[in-house]
Amino acid sequence: MNPAEFPRRRRQLMRIMGKGSIAIVPAAPQCLRNRDVRYRYRPDSDFYYLTGFPEPEAVAVLIPGRDQGQYILFCREKDPKKERWDGAIAGPQGAVELYGADDAFPIGDLDDILPRMLEQCDKVFYSMGADAELDQRMSQWISRIRGKARSGVHPPQEFIALDHHLHDMRLYKSRSEVAVMRRAARISAAAHRELMAACRPGMTELDLEGLFLQACYRKGVREQAYQPIVGGGDNATVLHYINNDQVLADGDLVLVDAGCELECYASDITRTFPVNGRFSEPQRQLYQLVLDAQLAAIAQVKPGNPYNAPHKAAVRTLTRGLVKLGLLKGQPAKLIKEEKYKKFFMHGTGHWLGLDVHDVGDYKIDGHWRELEPGMVVTVEPGLYIPRGMRGVAKKWQGIGIRIEDDVLVTRDGHDVLSKDAPKTIEEIEALMAR
Ligand code: GLY
Ligand code: MN
Ligand code: MN
Repeated sequence: MNPAEFPRRRRQLMRIMGKGSIAIVPAAPQCLRNRDVRYRYRPDSDFYYLTGFPEPEAVAVLIPGRDQGQYILFCREKDPKKERWDGAIAGPQGAVELYGADDAFPIGDLDDILPRMLEQCDKVFYSMGADAELDQRMSQWISRIRGKARSGVHPPQEFIALDHHLHDMRLYKSRSEVAVMRRAARISAAAHRELMAACRPGMTELDLEGLFLQACYRKGVREQAYQPIVGGGDNATVLHYINNDQVLADGDLVLVDAGCELECYASDITRTFPVNGRFSEPQRQLYQLVLDAQLAAIAQVKPGNPYNAPHKAAVRTLTRGLVKLGLLKGQPAKLIKEEKYKKFFMHGTGHWLGLDVHDVGDYKIDGHWRELEPGMVVTVEPGLYIPRGMRGVAKKWQGIGIRIEDDVLVTRDGHDVLSKDAPKTIEEIEALMAR
């Protein structure tokens, strides 16, 4: 990431906020996995977006126009003993020198310093309800200021949802964000290729997960944007299947939904392919239908189209195809209206993608689907899921779950599929697996 991005974002937010206002953004807490064992720290996406500061126990404060500096960071103090165990701490001095804070204080001084900053401001930009502890301290600070009314001090008059503005900013990816997301998608796509080429009957779902992780590690990428889903046969019909511990059977399909996280940016790719390298006839028919739906949906990703245009295209293609294959009976238009396709396709066709895999940003504005605009990134991920034993469905279709998911950037004249290096046509997949 271009380091100039962080001050640019802070300036952009402060322009929106205007004078007389303050924004308060806490870092995420350090989470325990179980007694004494910590998860590797992952910054909060909003906090990281504005600061690039990678440590817990920090609060970023923005005060547009403040003479002594507009960007103030409260953070942990240096502590040689602690650093001996857990590694370097930037400390307030490091926050200024390395992370561009105009001013920095120990986090322990928050209760002393922040109320004095608050009483200078009319408007507070803050995401209420996201950090219970900070919410409580905030209301204590406000009531403390109220208690000083006779000395002429007022608490801020207005509280404004910071996430609303910040999440709108995050929805539009800059050139350097797109560059990072493209790299993340390429690394994930290459990892999908690798496990596809290596897959054989008798291997386990966990083997494929391992191959995916290894391929990412080899590129120097440790983090995953979410728990990988590797489901063979019937397991692919469980949408959030993450056990990934079964043997892959000859004749089954396997669904792999996995995407690495690079510099906190997500990729999110799903591919479905035959364990033995050759699609059976029923698998081929269903797979081609999902692929047709996905291509029809991707074609709808362009500026000016409403957010749900890809979903509508996918539903149209899937419903018509399901009728042709005899899985639904009736008039496609009526079946769509009655949402009969939901028996086989029960999720949306995608979501925003960015620092969070299900990224932030409003999908509707004033009750209407938002228009797609250049710089937005969406996933396009239709699927069909037919579990074993599903009533009213011929045996040959059962035990098949298929999803095809790509990461798609909206460009000025249409779209760019960031994850296109992962094979998805039947011919490409069979050719790769035959090698
Ligand atoms: N892997 C999560 C999703 O596809 O939304
Ligand atoms: Mn997704
Ligand atoms: Mn996914």
